[in-house]
Amino acid sequence: MPTNLLTVAYIGASALFILSLAGLSNQKTAPKGNIYGITGMLIAVAATTLSLGVKEYGILGAVVLLGSIIGASVASRVAMTSMPELVAILHSFVGLAAVLVGIANYLQPEQSLTGIEEKIHQLEIFIGVFIGAVTLTGSIIAFGKLRAIISSKSLLLPARHWLNLGMILACVCLGFVFMQSEPLNGLPPLLIMTAIASVLGIHLVMAIGGADMPVVISMLNSYSGWAAAAAGFMLSNDLLIITGALVGSSGAILSYIMCRAMNRSFISVIAGGFGTEAGTVSQSGAAHQPVGTVNSTTIEETVQMLRDAKTVIVVPGYGMAVAQAQHAVSDITKHLRSQGVEVRFGIHPVAGRLPGHMNVLLAEAKVPYDIVLEMEEINHDFPKTDAVLVIGANDTVNPSAMDDPNSPIAGMPVLEVWKSTQVVVMKRSMASGYAGVDNPLFYKENTRMLFGDAKKNVDAILGKLSFA
Ligand code: TAP
Repeated sequence: MPTNLLTVAYIGASALFILSLAGLSNQKTAPKGNIYGITGMLIAVAATTLSLGVKEYGILGAVVLLGSIIGASVASRVAMTSMPELVAILHSFVGLAAVLVGIANYLQPEQSLTGIEEKIHQLEIFIGVFIGAVTLTGSIIAFGKLRAIISSKSLLLPARHWLNLGMILACVCLGFVFMQSEPLNGLPPLLIMTAIASVLGIHLVMAIGGADMPVVISMLNSYSGWAAAAAGFMLSNDLLIITGALVGSSGAILSYIMCRAMNRSFISVIAGGFGTEAGTVSQSGAAHQPVGTVNSTTIEETVQMLRDAKTVIVVPGYGMAVAQAQHAVSDITKHLRSQGVEVRFGIHPVAGRLPGHMNVLLAEAKVPYDIVLEMEEINHDFPKTDAVLVIGANDTVNPSAMDDPNSPIAGMPVLEVWKSTQVVVMKRSMASGYAGVDNPLFYKENTRMLFGDAKKNVDAILGKLSFA
């Protein structure tokens, strides 16, 4: 393909990626956004394949085929609840690609580059490999934590920030040695830096505790974008630079939004182990243990509560996703609304296991968008609400985030469900949520626990409600 045509194809693909991001920012336009993204990627892959630089079609075809088969089979089998794990491991591939491209690029230097251009190219390689290595190992640790292969508790080594700073300084020094080396002599500092950056990636993510994992995922998403952009610079591929920058900056914006939602500081996230001062105390056992009695309830009592209520708020969480209860919840909503009850949904920004998890499930179950409200839109309405149904949510409705400064989730804004007249919490046991923190909500006077699988319980409630 002539270079001019390749440029046109790349500009077209870039425009489609921007349209895709714009589309994905809203539930109604998200399907269109997806189509733009897929089309952009098809154009990008086809144009790159047909570009002058590609000669080994046999090897390329075999690798693309193998990758497509593995990707399609993994993606088609992954459960919605395991999506963050998949995303985390996919980020690690981007990191690995940046490391390999960087090292390969260094071993086979571009002959046409001399003088300052050659130096800039070396710098691109060094920075690209650094970001790639941090992304690679950080994402593998995030995958392990999300899969519960590694404990979700934060690992807080003594002087951990100094340790991070020391590793970064060592990488900077190695960078100077690398830049001053004769061609190919810089391989040892490059490889030593890769090893140090890999340890840095592990340490940064190990320091982050359970409830803060959503921020880490979006942060690694951002890192993977910058790693891709760095690979784009190394390969002189404009499209890869643009795509990487789009992913990097949108991931950074998402991390910032998440930080605000979790009441964490963005800078301390990047430094790793943010907000863990509270976690340190609690891990040594100083967080308050909830006191009081737990009152359980029955399907009949819950149905009666809903019949008596004029205003109901449903608060879904990870358990609703596990139980796949969203369709029955949607039917209960339809039924109550047809009886003149005002029903709304309160969505916490980190409910479930991926950004927008609950919104996706509710949209799939055809719950109208206008009754699905964000935490800050609905939090002040709980005192005026007759009944709240908490369906498989736990950390996101935990009052200790507000009351107990020693709690690992201290400072995280939560849905203040306990301020309503009556709360029914549906879950299977008294087990804690993802952050591993006890929940005083379950011991409050106006809380009733409806134990059992959320799907079975909402089906039974629906059956009794529609029967009357
Ligand atoms: P969680 O605090 O994780 O609690 C979910 C609850 O659902 C559990 O306590 C569990 O209790 C219950 N459950 C599980 N299966 C169930 C079933 N079949 N039927 C009924 N209940 C069931 O959920 P949340 O309130 O949505 O909070 C999300 C947590 O995940 C936060 O800590 C957040 O930081 C973290 N996180 C979020 C993300 C993103 S981006 N959203 C990513 C990673 C981590 P039982 O076992 O007793 O049933």
